[in-house]
Amino acid sequence: MNIDFKELANKYQTPYYVYDFDHITAQYTELKESFRARKSLIAYAVKANSNLSVIKHLATLGAGADCVSIGEVKRALKVGIPSYKIIFSGVGKSDDEIREALKLDILLINVESAEELNRVELIAKELNKIARISIRVNPNIDPKTHPYISTGLHENKFGVDIDTAKRMYIQCKNSEFLEPTGIHCHIGSQLTQLQPIKDAIKIVADLVRNLKAIKIELSFMDVGGGLGIVYKDETLINTYEYAQSILDTMFGLDLTVICEPGRFIVGNSGVFVTKVLYEKVNGNKRFVIVDGAMNDLIRPALYNAYHRIEVLNDNKEFSDCNIVGPVCESGDFFAKNIELPKTTHNDLVAIYSAGAYGFTMASNYNTRGRVAEIAVENGIDRLIRRRETFEDLIALEEEFIK
Ligand code: LLP
Repeated sequence: MNIDFKELANKYQTPYYVYDFDHITAQYTELKESFRARKSLIAYAVKANSNLSVIKHLATLGAGADCVSIGEVKRALKVGIPSYKIIFSGVGKSDDEIREALKLDILLINVESAEELNRVELIAKELNKIARISIRVNPNIDPKTHPYISTGLHENKFGVDIDTAKRMYIQCKNSEFLEPTGIHCHIGSQLTQLQPIKDAIKIVADLVRNLKAIKIELSFMDVGGGLGIVYKDETLINTYEYAQSILDTMFGLDLTVICEPGRFIVGNSGVFVTKVLYEKVNGNKRFVIVDGAMNDLIRPALYNAYHRIEVLNDNKEFSDCNIVGPVCESGDFFAKNIELPKTTHNDLVAIYSAGAYGFTMASNYNTRGRVAEIAVENGIDRLIRRRETFEDLIALEEEFIK
């Protein structure tokens, strides 16, 4: 990544997120190429980073979109992802969302419960449409990741067990308004081990074979997202081996593979850049206070997630500190007990691996405007979301006077 953080700070102020679009291209291409032995669709998980320019960039590369709200579906359509490359997942779709998804004629609705299937059938009937259905199977496999981002165990709220899935496919087959089209499974995020993925896909592939035996022929197998990235020193799943083991498991089945990566595509494209406001020592604890905060990047506060941090100065005098933001919560930190150089007012601090689940999880807590987002491609920077102003923050509110 060859980005001049100081120049961007002078031009756009701080804090900001910057995304390297060349890295996004490289990640997308690597994954797509890994699946080249088969028909495949890389449906980018929009929730990881939903900036319109990011989605548009992926659209031009040929990506589809994996969406978890009708808002995300509309973002994808707006930047030119064709409806036949859009998937809609999520445990709690509202009637309105299902209605709109059917009207927009997207590729698949990933159904996550028997009751949801009934709703989809009813609404499809109302609209006189045929809903293309994919059922999210919960294979009860431990993905060996952080419990908050683990999704493939029965104790997690996602998907349905194999027997329920089978009954739901039979319901689809017998319905005038449902078409059994795909199957879906996603066991968790930031996965660094291949075996749990293989185990899950095998369970799903066996179900596809069972369904085939009762004349239910599916066209798509959605293997979910979840590929991990390096935050610190993780050993990653090799994408070629990943694709190969999925394709091996699908032997004899004529299915298009769908894969829904989010973090893998954008995670290491992004850096959150903030600047030092103050330093202070309480007792013998050193604090570096920066202008970014937990409302901008909540992963450290929420998951105790590690993000590599670099202070952009030449000081060689390092000591232990906590790096914290201005929000009035003790949970407002980017790192605790790390060795950083002595800083002075306005020194820049780069927080890496912030391209996924960074800006999308930001809030306006403490009436802090969300920060600017910048794209860099071929050495050229563009502002892709301007910094929010105070007027933006209050625009939807009314002042009631008695
Ligand atoms: N497909 C489904 C059905 C998902 O639930 C997710 C992520 C993805 C695909 C994309 O997963 P990825 O490839 O990005 O791992 N906020 C958390 C991550 C939550 C992930 C939720 N689901 C974090 O900051 O680590």
